[in-house]
Amino acid sequence: MRQITVTEHLILHQKKSPAATGMFTGLLHDLILAAKLITRNVSSAGLLDVLGGTGEINVQGEAVQKLDDFANRVLIHRMERSGALCMMASEEIADIIPVPSRFTRGDYVLIFDPLDGSSNIDVNINTGTIFSILRRRTPASQDPSIDDALQAGMHQVAAGYILYGPSTMLVYTTGQGVHGFTLDPSVGEFLLSHPNMQIPEQGKIYSVNEGNYLHWDNTTQNIVNYFKSKDNAIGSPYSMRYVGSLVADFHRTLLYGGIFMYPMDHRSPEKPRGKLRLLCEASPLSFVAEQAGGAATDGLKRILEIEPTSLHERVPLFIGSRNDVEVVNKFYAGAM
Ligand code: AHG
Ligand code: MN
Ligand code: MN
Repeated sequence: MRQITVTEHLILHQKKSPAATGMFTGLLHDLILAAKLITRNVSSAGLLDVLGGTGEINVQGEAVQKLDDFANRVLIHRMERSGALCMMASEEIADIIPVPSRFTRGDYVLIFDPLDGSSNIDVNINTGTIFSILRRRTPASQDPSIDDALQAGMHQVAAGYILYGPSTMLVYTTGQGVHGFTLDPSVGEFLLSHPNMQIPEQGKIYSVNEGNYLHWDNTTQNIVNYFKSKDNAIGSPYSMRYVGSLVADFHRTLLYGGIFMYPMDHRSPEKPRGKLRLLCEASPLSFVAEQAGGAATDGLKRILEIEPTSLHERVPLFIGSRNDVEVVNKFYAGAM
């Protein structure tokens, strides 16, 4: 395959995309540079003092891993200088992160999970960075506000992820399909390796942490039992795969099809909740899934239609092959 870089691809194939402005191309460039800095530390984590925790607890109530903190700092430092952003929001930071007025501010908002799959870092299993790009809603004459971040996923200008695995991959969409690039470390460039990615309409893999089974309601238990039974769309039990890093489980689902599920759990009966974050995990991956011909729901509605009410809002997530997600919707609608 001819070696096509991200920049060339943006210019050649995204012409009609409103996102393919110079400012956006610059934004993606800086995001790619941040990803290269992160992948350098992730791929030699065992040799650097970046394993383990920092001893802090983040806004999610989770122990911060050193690589979480490193990835977060690299992204903020690099992206506030991109000239394309007025504001950012990170899974690791409680509030919005306005770009300091000493830097050039742009029209975009970047929301990110700096390192997804933190619990897998110390055992050398895939991790990733997930990003969502919105256009600011407040006028440029004002300071950015949380309203610029609290937008339903359907308003995203672009979204994607970098997967730190046997190879480092960038997968993103600007609303013109989904395209995958693989980092060639010998030249330091992401080169087009997976043009126009499409999720198979019908899957045969389900992906869920069955250790939470007792915390699910009956409908959810019936859904998972459906995929494990013979009475399903393929007439035999689906295979089960679960990495525990959303980016890795999603990337496999994007390529092989099937369904990834992180259902609502009723661990605390008064406050049943999903685990995954709407703005920096579910929304961006749902934009990618739909652009690849797949679907994503919280069980009741399209993820991309959910109007966020808070920066770190969590949602149940069912995402992947269109037919499999449709089954989930039917179960929750009482039609199965
Ligand atoms: P993060 O490391 O960014 O906090 O995300 C972890 C998430 C996600 O990557 C994965 O799908 C999920 O946590 C796994 O949760 P369980 O360990 O509860 O299965
Ligand atoms: Mn995550
Ligand atoms: Mn994370």
